[in-house]
Amino acid sequence: MATKGQYTYEWPRPMVTVDAIVFCNAASGTKVLLIKRGKEPHKGQWAFPGGFLELDEELVDGAKRELFEETGLKGVELEQFHSFGDIGRDPRGRLITVSFMGFVDSELPVKGSDDAEQAKWFDINDLPEKLAFDHDLVAEKAINTLKAMKTKKDDELSKIDRLNWAWRTSRVLQIANRIGVFDVLSNKPLFAEQISSKCKTDAELTERLLMACAALGLLTKDRGQYHNSDMANTYLVKGKKSYQGNMIAHSSWVRTRWDDIENTICNEPANAKTKQHYNFIMAMDNIANTLRIDFFLNSIDLSGRESLLDVGGGPGSYSIAACKKYPQLKAVVFDLKETIAIAKKVIDREGMAKQVDTIEGSWEAKTYGSGFDVVLLSNIMHGKNSHAPMKLKKAYDALDPGGLLAVQEFLLDDNKDGPLIAALFNMMVGAFSQSELIEVISQAGFTNTKIVSLKEDVGSGWITAIKPQI
Ligand SMILES: C[S@@+](CC[C@H](N)C(=O)[O-])C[C@H]1O[C@@H](n2cnc3c(N)ncnc32)[C@H](O)[C@@H]1O
Repeated sequence: MATKGQYTYEWPRPMVTVDAIVFCNAASGTKVLLIKRGKEPHKGQWAFPGGFLELDEELVDGAKRELFEETGLKGVELEQFHSFGDIGRDPRGRLITVSFMGFVDSELPVKGSDDAEQAKWFDINDLPEKLAFDHDLVAEKAINTLKAMKTKKDDELSKIDRLNWAWRTSRVLQIANRIGVFDVLSNKPLFAEQISSKCKTDAELTERLLMACAALGLLTKDRGQYHNSDMANTYLVKGKKSYQGNMIAHSSWVRTRWDDIENTICNEPANAKTKQHYNFIMAMDNIANTLRIDFFLNSIDLSGRESLLDVGGGPGSYSIAACKKYPQLKAVVFDLKETIAIAKKVIDREGMAKQVDTIEGSWEAKTYGSGFDVVLLSNIMHGKNSHAPMKLKKAYDALDPGGLLAVQEFLLDDNKDGPLIAALFNMMVGAFSQSELIEVISQAGFTNTKIVSLKEDVGSGWITAIKPQI
């Protein structure tokens, strides 16, 4: 019998195996690594890499060793996620397996060896019919865990995003309250110019404000005219019993005191110019890495494309992601000198200097070069003051015939009353509606101009177009 400190047990006793469930975020979807068993039991069936734990190794080391021995994958961080011990789960005896999960960025090359005849990545929605042992159960549990982790991450990110940008929606409400939008609309609907004339406010900005109010549900927009929503009529019109306008005005004033708190609490001056630029460019990288890269890769097919020009490419996040997915692709990030200095660091951070190059230049320059088969214009054509036709003409000239233009932009819907993020962005910077941007792109000579995808939670969409063959 066992005594403390001894590892000799009388058989039969439960024994321990360890499994490694490794997922990768492939552009075509999430995949998981399986091996085809080369030995009985379950010879020829697919299973997770794994095997018996040695007496002198920690659980995680056993899982890493088995992963390497059976697939050649090394250096993957593994974390224990569950143990499986149903009686009868393994025909060899009472075997309890401890399962580990890990993640890799892409479909790394794998090769079956040791107990494995083959190793292969499988789409998580298209796993082989019947996995060995109880690995169907393991797969189900692991995939559910993965989905729950993703949902948690999405929820947390959107919470952070809401917290970060909450002031924009409150500013819309406070400014509309201050200029009296809801009062002038209390009796009848009006067009934007009538409202700005009654409120004695700047016509263009007022119209943008009205769009944002509509996106927030404070107003509705019907055939160009704005109406108070029921909620606005109840709480935001002077003289109503439940009127909140004074509280909103008070809050607007208190907000300025909060700005003072920020300045008082900090010992260094806020927003020194270079820091501001760095934050602006790295903000693009932050959002790309959390919300937008998958959206980009799932929207834009670059199969067979070899050279990509990323105009105003900022930190280079999209070029980097494209080159990681398409190893044949070479990209050039074209941007201002101070931005390229940042992009170079991001490219190095990602180890992509062999595929992603940079050019310092301005989009005002005569040309963007030539001979590219993809041009990316991501978030550099914000509405009608963004010189979009000039940028599109030079993008057209830079492309070979048959070349692909891929444009990412904040896009208002054609009624210009949403989506909210595009309407808020439009308040300060500007945004095209979907059909306006399609029109501007087509006018530059492109064909097949179409929206390939829209993502409401980031308020943007991808449009593609082709430079026609001559
Ligand atoms: C909103 S960021 C977009 C960055 C990147 N395309 C993305 O989607 O993440 C705009 C970019 O335009 C660049 N930019 C501004 N003025 C420019 C100019 N005159 N010529 C080239 N790039 C410029 C900025 O440096 C910045 O990287």
